[in-house]
Amino acid sequence: MNIICLDKINSTNAYAKENIEKFPDKTIISADIQTNGRGRFNRNWVDMGKGNLFMSIILKHSDSFEAVYSNLTQYMSVVLCRVFEEYGLLPEIKWPNDVLIKGKKIAGILCEAIYSGKIFKGLILGIGVNLNADADRLALVKDKVVTALNIELSREYEDKNLFIEKLLYEFFKNYDSFLCNGFASIKDEYINRCNFLGKEVKVQLYNTTLEGEALHINNNGELILKEHDKEVAISAGDIL
Ligand code: BTN
Repeated sequence: MNIICLDKINSTNAYAKENIEKFPDKTIISADIQTNGRGRFNRNWVDMGKGNLFMSIILKHSDSFEAVYSNLTQYMSVVLCRVFEEYGLLPEIKWPNDVLIKGKKIAGILCEAIYSGKIFKGLILGIGVNLNADADRLALVKDKVVTALNIELSREYEDKNLFIEKLLYEFFKNYDSFLCNGFASIKDEYINRCNFLGKEVKVQLYNTTLEGEALHINNNGELILKEHDKEVAISAGDIL
């Protein structure tokens, strides 16, 4: 594994994307400060101050996009939960891949498939974890429904490297099995941590919002929503 630690960067995902040709499979890019972090649906990811985790993993397992890659962020959400559980916390997953503690977001994941024209170059799996939130920066987050490890542990969390070590160990421990067996290999663990099943939810898709009961997660990791009398399988979106 090749680990590159940067002091300051606009976005570890953007840096990984610009340099994807130079780096081998499983290269890790981590930064101490991230000035323009990107989130899902063109949102931004706020740097909460000193000691937070901004990391991108370059993955070049194949020369073409494989269906299993669509579930990689869900795999990472389970991995993150396992790590938070080592700290005695009770993380939950909000479909598809937000990790929450007591209903507040503590980690976000953004996976980008990189192409040069039609040629698939690899994946960039970006992870942001709020390890230490500074009160002023916390106030910058629009919806405020966020938390951080220091808040949940009621102490400063000073060991970012240990957290990264645990995360990478957990990620690569079952990565090959995940690539072979797909979402099925994590389905039970994923569902056990879902906080929305059986509830009425609103789901934001790219250009519309759906409302209904979140019934279950199917074998492809899709959310099955009961909207009026019909069941809809949703593969990409956000529970509001
Ligand atoms: C989300 O929940 O919207 C996803 C947030 C992903 C943020 C991480 S921080 C490291 C990596 N670099 C980025 O610019 N974004 C991801």
